[in-house]
Amino acid sequence: MRRKLAAGNWKMNGTASSLAEVQALVSLHCAPSVDILICPPATLIAQAAGLCANSPIMIGAQDCHAAASGAHTGDISAPMLADTGAGAVILGHSERRENHNETSDLVAQKAVAAHAAGLIAVVCLGESLAQREGAQTLDVIAEQLAASLPDGTTGANTVIAYEPIWAIGTGLTPSLAQIGEVHDFIRSRLSERFGVQAAEDFRLLYGGSVKPENAAEIFATSNVDGALVGGASLKSEDFSPIIRALE
Ligand code: G3H
Repeated sequence: MRRKLAAGNWKMNGTASSLAEVQALVSLHCAPSVDILICPPATLIAQAAGLCANSPIMIGAQDCHAAASGAHTGDISAPMLADTGAGAVILGHSERRENHNETSDLVAQKAVAAHAAGLIAVVCLGESLAQREGAQTLDVIAEQLAASLPDGTTGANTVIAYEPIWAIGTGLTPSLAQIGEVHDFIRSRLSERFGVQAAEDFRLLYGGSVKPENAAEIFATSNVDGALVGGASLKSEDFSPIIRALE
């Protein structure tokens, strides 16, 4: 049985005062029946992890370098993230793919690094609006899924997040049928590659304009095991009801 996961991606938002939101979630969710992951900016990981030290809430990062160390000014490696208290790292978010020209091959290299450091890789996939309108969605997802997951990927060390680019931060969401179609497709592709039993272990998150008002219906959709939430994860008063909708 897969444990549900509510993951928050703060993106490039938050300063020390935002740690009050982490503290609030720690207080509100002492014994959750679902997993909770908060990915603040790298500057807050250590402090957030400290606040969650005696809590089931996990702190994660939003990216890592593929190398463990070296001459990569400004980058942060997976072992460094683990050292600061992170337990997971988001990889291949569409904002990284677009703004930093990250390819699926690079995402796979980063996933290898994350796994080696003991981090759960939250690997993101998703089509653009033009690809959706051009009926290319499943082809895009198939390519990204195949190329972004390295050998050695399992449901224990990797979570898949389906995030249609056109739904991120726009208030738009696909229909429940469209979400279900993609999630069913991802599960079926995972079965082909890793075997039916192993594929059942993977948690598949939906991301893109998830909010308290639409969370329950999205979570009731086929093969949706949780959400990767952006804007609505910044405030505990928004994220907490999303967590509760998953419980
Ligand atoms: O990683 C999170 C996603 O990009 C979703 O962002 O909930 O603000 O649409 P959003």
